[in-house]
Amino acid sequence: MKVLFVVWEVDPFFKLGGLGDIARSLPGALINSGVDIRVITPYYKVEKMGRNKKQKIATFSFLYARRKQKVEIWETLHPFTKVPCYFLKNKKYLDKATLTETWGFFDKAVIEILKRNLLNWEPEILHLNDRHCGLIPLLVKAEKLPVKTMMTIHNLAYQGKSPISILTDMGIDHSIVKITKWEIKSHQVNFLMEGIIHSDIVTVVSPTYSKEILTEEFGQGLNEILVGMEGRIFGILNGIDIDWRYNKLDHSVKFPYNLSEKIVDGRKYLNWKDGKKLNKHFLQKKLGLKIDENIPVLCFIGRFDARQKGLDIMHTMLRRNADNMKYQIVILGSGDKDWEERYMWFSTFYPKYISCNLKFDESLAHQIYAGSDFILVPSLYEPCGLIQMIAMLFGTVPIAHDTGGLSDSIKDNFNGFLFEKYSSEALEKTVNKALDLWRNDKERFNKIVENALISDFTWNKSAKEYISLYEKLLS
Ligand code: GLC
Repeated sequence: MKVLFVVWEVDPFFKLGGLGDIARSLPGALINSGVDIRVITPYYKVEKMGRNKKQKIATFSFLYARRKQKVEIWETLHPFTKVPCYFLKNKKYLDKATLTETWGFFDKAVIEILKRNLLNWEPEILHLNDRHCGLIPLLVKAEKLPVKTMMTIHNLAYQGKSPISILTDMGIDHSIVKITKWEIKSHQVNFLMEGIIHSDIVTVVSPTYSKEILTEEFGQGLNEILVGMEGRIFGILNGIDIDWRYNKLDHSVKFPYNLSEKIVDGRKYLNWKDGKKLNKHFLQKKLGLKIDENIPVLCFIGRFDARQKGLDIMHTMLRRNADNMKYQIVILGSGDKDWEERYMWFSTFYPKYISCNLKFDESLAHQIYAGSDFILVPSLYEPCGLIQMIAMLFGTVPIAHDTGGLSDSIKDNFNGFLFEKYSSEALEKTVNKALDLWRNDKERFNKIVENALISDFTWNKSAKEYISLYEKLLS
């Protein structure tokens, strides 16, 4: 089974968020299950190639926006998973990840490569990810290429709209594009919508989200189209790299620990109670918080996305609690500038209890997971969410909104806590319930930590589900 995984970011070469993680680990899981999978992505200037051996395998040109454009194809093996990765280099369009108007260029380049068999390898399936690959399915149809398409949506809110002139630049006949009346008026083409309509199969990253997106509340304006496709939409929960990413390769956590004390590959793991205590002390000291093992530490790690991540309800709760803090909270993430400022204010006025770190720092993230007792995931919606799974791997108990992949990965009162209504009151009530358990019922709380620690978020199950969809596509 030959699959080309098409994606805009791949960790550790270049990563903006969860998508980059998935582009690293899902192909890794699939190659281990015997799928001949390869990854194709742009070659941005900031791409971190490290000591990876890379080679240029082809140069080709095609007409784009009435000009001849040259593209180089570079190949390397992924440093962790050994999946072959192809990088497309073009100065004008593919140097920067932020040039949204150039997704069209990338899509067209991928199609040209397939048409000319420049990889010397002909995929049977194109596994496309998010809006950046949105026009590939219709190009496949227009060119009548003998390949099936699967579109995986990681977040329906990001749809990517471009001026309709991009179709002319790409040499696409406007009549095959399913632009709605509204879009004709706005003279825009919606990348994700085109991708959904023209793909053979659509998947999203959790079963619950696959149902939510059929409703007006979560459908981001595409719910009617998605309802019309029922039967061709599937939800598969993401996994995480349990074996190596957070264990073998992770040296940022000062006191590695596990369910019980053990030695793995010559490295000593403490039991979780001792490990948590030491890592918590380390974290409180590092961030200038009051050092006290009897204060529960909460954390939040994530993009500051004002419409998704629950920054508003978390902020309201903190405002209510700030003058009489019964817990500490460590925040890590960046994005929306207004929210960054409002959170920073807490840090300035309550430095012993609230620590805001407005940056992206993977190593600090791991230290926070390891040193916190709880993680807050108050997202309004969450297609899958990875942090709750990573946190659980560290025995850090999630307190999360009951939505999307959070509902699929957390069992309330078993390995975490869920709240139903999206409000600061519901969040606070659940935080209080969790803190009460932490303080007054250690036995039950410890059981929850242990259930979290042994939850299975390996890729095995998801990889099997992807493979059965691939088989369906080919049958
Ligand atoms: C997006 C989603 C997130 C998901 C990730 C990987 O970032 O917002 O929920 O976990 O993609 O699929």
